[in-house]
Amino acid sequence: MTSEIPISVRAVPAKLVELTGFQDTRESWICPHLSAGLSGPGEEHFHLGTVMRLDGPQHVARRKAMGTLLSRRGHEHFRERWLFPAADAGLAEVLARRDPDGFARVNIRKWALRVNQQLAAAITGLDGGTTPQGAQELFELMEIVLRGRPQAFDVTLGTYDSGTPTARAALAARQRIVDEFYKPALVRRVEMAGKIRLNEANPQDMPQDLLALIATGADPAWLDPAMGEREALFLLAAAVHTTSATLIWVLREIFAWAEASIVSAVP
Ligand code: HEM
Repeated sequence: MTSEIPISVRAVPAKLVELTGFQDTRESWICPHLSAGLSGPGEEHFHLGTVMRLDGPQHVARRKAMGTLLSRRGHEHFRERWLFPAADAGLAEVLARRDPDGFARVNIRKWALRVNQQLAAAITGLDGGTTPQGAQELFELMEIVLRGRPQAFDVTLGTYDSGTPTARAALAARQRIVDEFYKPALVRRVEMAGKIRLNEANPQDMPQDLLALIATGADPAWLDPAMGEREALFLLAAAVHTTSATLIWVLREIFAWAEASIVSAVP
């Protein structure tokens, strides 16, 4: 950490520590005296107490609870049951709409965002968002949330204002996601858990997703309904833009490599 910039223009006295290199960043990540937990207005709607914000033993316990999603061949489950079918159906849609010259063209970013939204909905357990139409609706709501959600800086510096039009729109969109996607899916899993307890259903019938873990209190913190909502919204957002941007970079590398291979193969 090399420089300290006083933030005199801010309403809340705060100090910004600027990290200027990988070594600084690495040191901060592993430093036991620093915390991932931010506090300030706005956190209560979005990230307060989620896995990303916990430190120490609480973080380990939350990671352990969420990690069960990937145990028992979880990667394979999400890949085969959700990702590949969504991607195949999305490609079939593209191929069915060819241009007059016979080529099928697609905006790969938009395409990836929708497919990954379907996958993110499945991992989170928002059943209504796993179809192409449901994912599109969920994506549009999430975009409004992302635009008006406070950035980490706003939270720490106390500059989040829940009254601005973008912040108000984000909170309204968040509520629609909770009411239309989250609550019905959670009720389904709570009912399923009840049936399993009474031996009226098979434990295998419980979906493999975050909402099932929340419904069964795999981490007791999720028994607080607001905490469960925040965790689910966080996970839902974590898996869409990151993975879609990565796909684009991967394709770029592949095309650059293929082009270079063709050029070098020409005698
Ligand atoms: C290429 C794709 C991805 C990239 C580049 C990426 C990047 C990151 C980064 C930088 C963080 C740390 C954020 C912070 O602490 O401020 C993070 C945390 C996290 N990401 Fe991702 N992510 C990707 C995909 C995913 C996917 C697909 C999921 C879930 C399905 C996911 C779930 C999480 C979770 C749960 C955390 C919090 C982990 C913790 O604090 O223990 N990410 N990710």
